[in-house]
Amino acid sequence: MDILIVGTGYVGLVSGACFAEMGHHVICLDINTDKINALNQGIIPFYEPGLEELVKRNASAGRMIFTSHYKEAVERSLVCFLALPTPSQEDGSCKTSYLMDAVEEIARHMDGYRLIVNKSTAPVGTCHTIKDTLQKALEKQGKSTEFSVVANPEFLKEGSAVSDCLKPDRIILGVDHPSITGLLKEMYSPFTVNHDRILIMDILSAEMTKYAANAMLALRISFMNELSLLCEKVGANIKEVRIGIGADERIGYDFLYAGIGYGGSCFPKDLRALQALAKENHSPTPLLEATELVNQNQRELFFQKIKRYFAKRGGLRNKTVAIWGLSFKPETDDMREAPSLTIIERLLEEGAFIRAYDPISMPGAKKLIVPSAQMHYASSEYEAAKQADAIALITEWKQFRFVSFDPLLQNMKGVAFFDGRNQYKAEEMEERGFDYFGIGIPTHAHRVLTAHQDPALI
Ligand SMILES: NC(=O)c1ccc[n+]([C@@H]2O[C@H](COP(=O)([O-])OP(=O)(O)OC[C@H]3O[C@@H](n4cnc5c(N)ncnc54)[C@H](O)[C@@H]3O)[C@@H](O)[C@H]2O)c1
Repeated sequence: MDILIVGTGYVGLVSGACFAEMGHHVICLDINTDKINALNQGIIPFYEPGLEELVKRNASAGRMIFTSHYKEAVERSLVCFLALPTPSQEDGSCKTSYLMDAVEEIARHMDGYRLIVNKSTAPVGTCHTIKDTLQKALEKQGKSTEFSVVANPEFLKEGSAVSDCLKPDRIILGVDHPSITGLLKEMYSPFTVNHDRILIMDILSAEMTKYAANAMLALRISFMNELSLLCEKVGANIKEVRIGIGADERIGYDFLYAGIGYGGSCFPKDLRALQALAKENHSPTPLLEATELVNQNQRELFFQKIKRYFAKRGGLRNKTVAIWGLSFKPETDDMREAPSLTIIERLLEEGAFIRAYDPISMPGAKKLIVPSAQMHYASSEYEAAKQADAIALITEWKQFRFVSFDPLLQNMKGVAFFDGRNQYKAEEMEERGFDYFGIGIPTHAHRVLTAHQDPALI
């Protein structure tokens, strides 16, 4: 049996490769012909650890093929997964037209029963709209073909997507009727050999679960970020606070890191979509609004810290800031809604020069950041720091943890280090000679910066 995966992005390609690895025959379909041509030449269109090897192995074994043609792909497949973009619209609501376009294409070529499985993150009720769209498209062609629609939200994380997909902590199947799950359970069985991780529920709850999971994770981050500001003002250390609260197993240690906030292709858009859905249903969401507000403020607060530091040193104009890390998180080249974009934009507006370095994401960043004489891309973190007045760590790539700071400091013009991800020990950085600033950490440099200032302005 062939499996069709519609949409060959982060979710579609990783899922397709993992199904192929488990012995299934997978057709990966995308309307972006450049992507398909690249894949057919063995080029993976984005960076994801372990993916290239997996795709190449399964493609050369004939278990993965790549196409832009719906006809043959739909005719050959009993199960069609949808892994399609669901971006924000201007009002924050989710744009589901990519899904509906794909569903209409599928309907055009359906010659018998198909199981349509939606992996894309889409508002509660979308699978019902998919059903209606499919039904109408089939009726229009005079077909009475049967089909089922299943909600199968995806929980993989960019950066560890392959292992998340091969070893999922849960597989959620939202169905109208349990009888539909047989085929999917069989397909997913190689992923659940250790213990059954398949959770079956109704469609609407499955759709809501995905949004609830992302909102909860975002909320934890914003909670810590909100407290980090207070920590800075009262002299407490957010890292210690995390350890203190995480020891309570009802809370746990995960996803409680203060930093410059979340970005990426999921949390921001999914929170907006959930709020839009709530608004549509007259259901207040003050927690979600606060989560987003804190997240936006966090970037601005980080920028303001840099600006304040340089206020006493002649201002940011003509100062050089080395930016370490551009992608929204490590181990991915995804620049969607990356905090680096906001911070760089704010620094450029103030007349600063940027020397940016990221191990993977510079090509993607160059497409999004307007080229100018102020913007320079470096070949390493050391090169970025050369003659810099300050370093701002934005993305916590592992290689930034093992830097030889002494030679690096010798080549810098200034000594400021703004650690947006609390990656270093404050005492060690201060001993090395840095004016070190973390997030929610009472460092010496922070105390000097905020001494004699009105707390309301800090
Ligand atoms: N990226 C993640 O980490 C992640 C994790 C969980 C869930 N999701 C959700 O999964 C979905 C896909 O996300 P992604 O990051 O893989 O997106 P993506 O943008 O990387 O990939 C989507 C692909 O779909 C293709 N496409 C668009 N319209 C098409 C059509 N009509 N027919 C065929 N192909 C079409 C695009 O060309 C693109 O290659 C989204 O709803 C997202 O919210 C993403």
